[in-house]
Amino acid sequence: MPVNQIQNGSSSSSSTTSARNGSKWPENVGIIAMDIYFPSSYVDQTDLEEFNGVSKGKYTIGLGQLKMGFTDDREDISSICLTVTESLLKKYKISPADIGFLMIGTETIIDKSKSIKTVLMDLFKDSGNTDIEGIHATNACYGGTASLFHAIDWIESSNWDGRYALVVAADIAVYASGAARPTGGCGAVAMLIGPNSAIILDRKVRSTYMANVYDFYKPDLSSEYPYVDGPLSNQCYLQALDQCFNLYFDKANRNREELLNHDHSEQSMIDLSHFDAVIFHAPYCKLVQKSVARMHLLNNLRLQANDPSRFDLKLEKYRNIKLEDSYNDREMEKLLLTLSSENFSKQTDPSLMLAREIGNMYTASLYACLISYLISDSVENQIDKHLLLFSYGSGLAASMFSARITKDKTILSRLSNGLADIKSRLQQRRRVPPAKFEETLNLREKTHNIAPYAPTGDISLLMAGTYYITEINQKYHRKYSKA
Ligand SMILES: CC(C)(COP(=O)(O)OP(=O)(O)OC[C@H]1O[C@@H](n2cnc3c(N)ncnc32)[C@H](O)[C@@H]1OP(=O)(O)O)[C@@H](O)C(=O)NCCC(=O)NCCS
Repeated sequence: MPVNQIQNGSSSSSSTTSARNGSKWPENVGIIAMDIYFPSSYVDQTDLEEFNGVSKGKYTIGLGQLKMGFTDDREDISSICLTVTESLLKKYKISPADIGFLMIGTETIIDKSKSIKTVLMDLFKDSGNTDIEGIHATNACYGGTASLFHAIDWIESSNWDGRYALVVAADIAVYASGAARPTGGCGAVAMLIGPNSAIILDRKVRSTYMANVYDFYKPDLSSEYPYVDGPLSNQCYLQALDQCFNLYFDKANRNREELLNHDHSEQSMIDLSHFDAVIFHAPYCKLVQKSVARMHLLNNLRLQANDPSRFDLKLEKYRNIKLEDSYNDREMEKLLLTLSSENFSKQTDPSLMLAREIGNMYTASLYACLISYLISDSVENQIDKHLLLFSYGSGLAASMFSARITKDKTILSRLSNGLADIKSRLQQRRRVPPAKFEETLNLREKTHNIAPYAPTGDISLLMAGTYYITEINQKYHRKYSKA
């Protein structure tokens, strides 16, 4: 039923009603429900270290990764989006008729014209609902965030008709053989957006940094693999973090009332300590740890600009540092990692469980990290927590934004219950030897976007409810069925 009828406790199922209450914005707009899909197979990073003949610990300690999810030729970007979207609608008992906006963020492109959104319309066919705005957004790992912002904006616009918005962020992250391959992964996250949400997005504080850089891009449409300059992409990520961080806290301090939710008890300048959790796009977990370290410096530089006595004296040498000259300063990085280790354990580590277990999910990565945080503790302990989120997509597009977990235990419990099966689903996955992983990636490489094609992957290995390709005919029409 439409959002505003749920609020009023009505059971009518008419699909549109007047959404606005006078000229006021709908309240507490954000994420109401979430679900994640990840493949049933993974390769263990210790097995991969041995298989690739790199030194022990390179992927597990050096990159901070434990396992990497992957899929064979039975799944594509449309199938994983179908799987996660249907799962969310069923789990949370949402009628397809009550969705008024649906947008997909992905960089896994299989057609230059026809969007994944049009494929997902099959899930709405039986309800007769064809009135669904939104299409898709592509820019490396940023499309999920662009879609989330558009969904929030639709609900806060004069075009909102009282129905929910849906956002799906999904990718199959595969790299050519070489240094980048262990930083792959695969996953899809679906999010139901509306008022009276569990994760309420703060208004007026989003910060964005965009620039033209060739750090990671996919110019070869006949291949799934990106062209990637790994060291440059790391530097661009940290540069974007610097820019978004400073702009975010400028805006946050200009809009204090909005951020503090009219709670005036917190009088001092808003800084990193305002947040209970800091959640990142996670290409690999070690980069996230280094980002937390860098934020420690950025935060200190901001504090000292306001009050020089608040600068951490252990950082004295860096008081006048030029940020743009510091990306390769290993001595500083080491010191910052030590000084920020407690903050990392408290504010960020709980959000990295799925990133370690599955790997990079590109557009879905940040939202998988949000899910990891939500399942890391009880509902009681997460009420009213403040979250800071950083989204990065190469090329580049990045944003920092923030959210507050609802104080309403019933609303949060509904979200939490929908995420309750994730840990057991992770346990049910199958560990595949690296040779089989390589064979599978070679198969995907050889058969990428060919037609006609009959996939060969074993469907008995898929988890129940997983959509899979049955056939790609000579006209490139893709047919799907469900395990
Ligand atoms: C991230 C990436 C550049 C790493 O490539 P690489 O050639 O393996 O890089 P390195 O040799 O520097 O090794 C990675 C880390 O493992 C460490 N390491 C190497 N061997 C190790 C071992 N046996 N034990 C522990 N750590 C080890 C290295 O010191 C390095 O850590 P540091 O950067 O903190 O010094 C590569 O995986 C890549 O291009 N990934 C895709 C792009 C990406 O994810 N970019 C992120 C921003 S979007």
